[in-house]
Amino acid sequence: MRDEARAAELRDKLAGELLAAGYLRSARLEAAFRAVPRHAFVPAGTPLDVTYQVDRAVVTKRDERGGAVSSVSAAYVQVAMIEQAELKPGMSVLEVGSGGYNAALLAEVVGPDGQVVSVDIDPEVTERATALLHAAGYGDRVTVLTADAGREISGWGSFDAIIVTVGAWDLSPAWLGQLAAHGTLVVPLRMNGVSRSIAFRRSDAHLISTSAVVCGFVPMRGVGAHANREFRLPDAEGRVVTLGFDDGAPDDPALLDGVLAGPRAEVWSGVTIRHGVSFADLHLWFAGFLPGFCKLAAEDGTEPAQERKTWFPFAVVRGDSFAYLSVRPALDGTGVEFGARAYGRHGHEAARAMVDQIQAWNDLSRNRPEPTFAYWPTGTTPVHLPECTAVLNKTNGLVTISWPTG
Ligand SMILES: C[S@@+](CC[C@H](N)C(=O)[O-])C[C@H]1O[C@@H](n2cnc3c(N)ncnc32)[C@H](O)[C@@H]1O
Repeated sequence: MRDEARAAELRDKLAGELLAAGYLRSARLEAAFRAVPRHAFVPAGTPLDVTYQVDRAVVTKRDERGGAVSSVSAAYVQVAMIEQAELKPGMSVLEVGSGGYNAALLAEVVGPDGQVVSVDIDPEVTERATALLHAAGYGDRVTVLTADAGREISGWGSFDAIIVTVGAWDLSPAWLGQLAAHGTLVVPLRMNGVSRSIAFRRSDAHLISTSAVVCGFVPMRGVGAHANREFRLPDAEGRVVTLGFDDGAPDDPALLDGVLAGPRAEVWSGVTIRHGVSFADLHLWFAGFLPGFCKLAAEDGTEPAQERKTWFPFAVVRGDSFAYLSVRPALDGTGVEFGARAYGRHGHEAARAMVDQIQAWNDLSRNRPEPTFAYWPTGTTPVHLPECTAVLNKTNGLVTISWPTG
């Protein structure tokens, strides 16, 4: 079978999967998805079955250390974010972060009377996107600009929707400035290391979420960049456990020196989960309510790496000690029980703090409706916050995450 025919077949199959999973919901986006050749926007040589996978981003540019700086995002994320924006024919859309493919989908959805402006900070990315859009027949339907989209896009007024396709730690005041009064801002927002693509609408002077989707994105560069802090803790053999902080890094990380050689502790929660069930909402709960929360990466050979890695990418630091999320087989044999294992003189305390939040999540959040997110720009005062609300400080405002109770 020729490549184009095979690509069309895989695209239709992927559209079916996205419909079945509920990511693809509107007829216009479905038609767009079936029409735009995703394979025309990935690097030459990318296998078609990689291009047309539900959850696979294809990296288009890396930095000198091999980190991804630009990619064609995973299909499910692109589709979910466009649905979040609730676009209609004739609307104007600003896409922050270019690549070509997503902009072509947007052009199909807003139609010939709509407007799509795609902005990227990286001239190599905009050159590539411009060329690919032209080749695919979208050259005159998308305006591609090179600029830091953390700042106002001068010469352009307001947009009905702004879709940010790069990981943001904070909302840029420029996005709020260029969002129409009735507009929707869709943004992959990082909250203490945990990301959600959040659709925000204005409500008086603040923004309130209409939906949120689990996602991951390459981090924003330029004025909106936010540096992670990482602490490398070597064990006796020089193998390293790394703790990464998006926010709230300890004031004195030297207290953790030699911690892997210190005493160990563990605390179990009695909270179980069946195999194969997502617990992404637990990560968000930790991000909201567990001070000292961080991400953990364990090199092969270190003790934390000897357990199933996927279960404990999260940790919490307490002074000279840290604990990490762990599991053991559940007594009833149906899944696993959550707990925390710890290192250091105050490891038990750190593990206890994590387990307290596992239990609080189980009691107050699990199997309940999704939380609501709000953004309060500097100068506004949060009001009417429900009881179960986490508050995260950002540079340009505050994020609140409110879990429904009762
Ligand atoms: C995931 S890619 C965009 C994917 C694209 N929308 C697509 O069609 O799949 C993220 C892009 O954001 C860009 N970016 C990072 N910081 C930016 C900034 N401050 N302003 C504009 N673009 C930025 C990166 O250069 C990168 O190309």
